[in-house]
Order: sequence, then structure tokens, then C-alpha cells
Amino acid sequence: MTMQNLEQILPQAQRDFAACDTIQDLEQVKSRYLGKSGLLTEQLKGLGKLSAEERPAAGAAINVVKQGVEDALKARRDAILNAEQARQLAIESIDVTLPARSHGKGGLHPVTLTMNRLEQIFQSIGFEVAEGPEIETDFYNFTALNIPEDHPARAMHDTFYIDDKHVLRTHTSPVQVHYMQNALKDKSGPPLKIIAPGRVYRVDSDATHSPMFHQVEGLWVDEEVSFANLKGVVQDFLQRFFERDDLQVRFRPSFFPFTEPSAEMDMSWNGGWLEIGGCGMVHPEVFRHVGIDSEKYRGFAFGLGVERLTMLRYGVNDLRLFFNNDLRFLQQFG
Ligand code: DAH
Repeated sequence: MTMQNLEQILPQAQRDFAACDTIQDLEQVKSRYLGKSGLLTEQLKGLGKLSAEERPAAGAAINVVKQGVEDALKARRDAILNAEQARQLAIESIDVTLPARSHGKGGLHPVTLTMNRLEQIFQSIGFEVAEGPEIETDFYNFTALNIPEDHPARAMHDTFYIDDKHVLRTHTSPVQVHYMQNALKDKSGPPLKIIAPGRVYRVDSDATHSPMFHQVEGLWVDEEVSFANLKGVVQDFLQRFFERDDLQVRFRPSFFPFTEPSAEMDMSWNGGWLEIGGCGMVHPEVFRHVGIDSEKYRGFAFGLGVERLTMLRYGVNDLRLFFNNDLRFLQQFG
């Protein structure tokens, strides 16, 4: 190769490098000049054919060009890398003026809020919080509560049966039975004083009924417990729950198989009365089923609807809103 050719190598390499847009392209073009059979390598190999006098000058000239090619290569490589980095930064750029994306904060369900609130109030007046199973035998859900065989609540169309002997509990009253039995067994009572909040199930579904809902049961058993105590406890609870000192409670005579006498409880609300649950003095048959001496002990019991309390406290007008899981509704209680 002649000196003429050598002089053309650098400008040609510069043009070739400039045409490359990626590092991969550049590496390929690089081998055309600096690779094992690249143009410059061939030039160097050609030195062997020259005489000893010619060789140093020719070698030096080749090295100048080689250095030039290497410099051009590095310059182009840097330029490509810079451009790639700039492109990457543009993609990843953060607009700090955009509103922040927050981690949505969870909240408690309004029914849970009510349960927590009523547990706290009842605990402050000496009630313990008890729990029972949601799948009950018909003994606990019906028989022990003095509910006769032919009672409509036992009918298939009112109650979710698991099998012949097991039901999804239709009320929280069976917790009374469990608790009294256990208290006798471990000799912790009577006296005993509990509330039992929890889920209950009935074959029922419309704007004011859900197949699953919540009740809170109350039970106080001692030697001297009266109907007057019952009314006092319920009224005290409701006044504190609704934060209304003037809230009144009214009892209307009623019937439940597990209490005698029995009453329907109403509370004063916006100039009228609203039914909020049932109550009464524990029926001697219930005491007999659990083994408590009804000559010595007496007790009162009550059952309140938790959704009902929640709807009144927050002004919710459709029960189904509690179970639709619509965040627009639920977020209002956070
Ligand atoms: N268990 C009744 C129901 O679900 C409510 C109830 C009424 C509970 C009177 C009581 C009570 O403890 O004394 O309809």
C-alpha cells in the first residue's frame, strides 16, 4: 500500500465512524480499520517488505494515522454514549410538579367502627366481650334458648342450614348459652356480665335486610338484677353511643322464647321512636338448659342490630351500602 492510500485512511475512518449511531455499529466499523485484517493492520504488516532505511519513517507515519483513527473512534464512542444517556434521562425524567401518587390509606369499615365503639362503652361499664361460633348446632341456636320445634325461625326458608343439625347462627343469643356453660365449668361465674357482638345470618335480602348482618348481645346474670337495671344499662349505652344526654328509651311489651317478661326497645329519635332491639329477663328454661339455679340467679338479656346503630349514627339510608364495597361510600368513614 502506498503513502497515498495511507493518507486516505483517516478521513475515511472519520466518515465511517460518523455514520454509526450505535456502539454495536461502531465496533463493526472499528474492526475494518484496527481488526486483525483491518486496513491499518495490513499497513503495519506491509512494513516488513520495506528496507531497513525506509521502515522507521513509514512506521511512524502509520502510527500517526493509527493514533488518529483511535482518537476518532474514542470521540465517536463518547458521543454515542452521551447521546444514549441523554435519551435515557429524558425517558426517566421526573416531573416534580405533578401531584404525588399516595399510598391509599386504609380505614375501618363503619360497622367495625360501631363494634369497636360499643365494645369500648360496654367495657367501661364492666361488661366483658365474648365470642361464639358462627356455625351453631340447633341446640345452641334454638333448643337451649327455649325456641320450640315448630318456631318459624327454625324453618328452612328462614335459616341457612349446613346439615340437619347445624345452622349459620340466626342471632347472637346462643353466645349467652356458651358463656353461661363455660362460666359454670371453670367456676368464673355467675355473676357474669357480657356483650357478644358478631355476624348473624338469615334468608333475607332487601333495602333493610341483608343475609349477613351484625348483632350485639348483652347478658348480665347475678342474684339481684332487675328490669330497671336493664333499662338503665341500655339507656346509658345509647346516650353515650349517640352522644345525646337527652336520649330516652322506651320498652314495649313483646315476646321472645328466651326471656320472660320480654320487651321491644325503642329510642327517641327526631321527635319519634325507633325500634332498636329486643330484651327481657332471662327465661328460667334457658337457665335450666345451662344448669344455673333460677331460684338463686336472675339475669337480663338484650339484642341490638349493629347496622341499625351504624345507619342512625352516620345517617346512612340503605343497608346494602355496607356490603357493596364501594370505596366512594367507605372512604367517608376513614
Ligand atoms: N335474638 C333476638 C333476635 O335476633 C334478639 C333478642 C331479643 C336478644 C331479646 C335478646 C333478647 O337477648 O333478650 O331477634
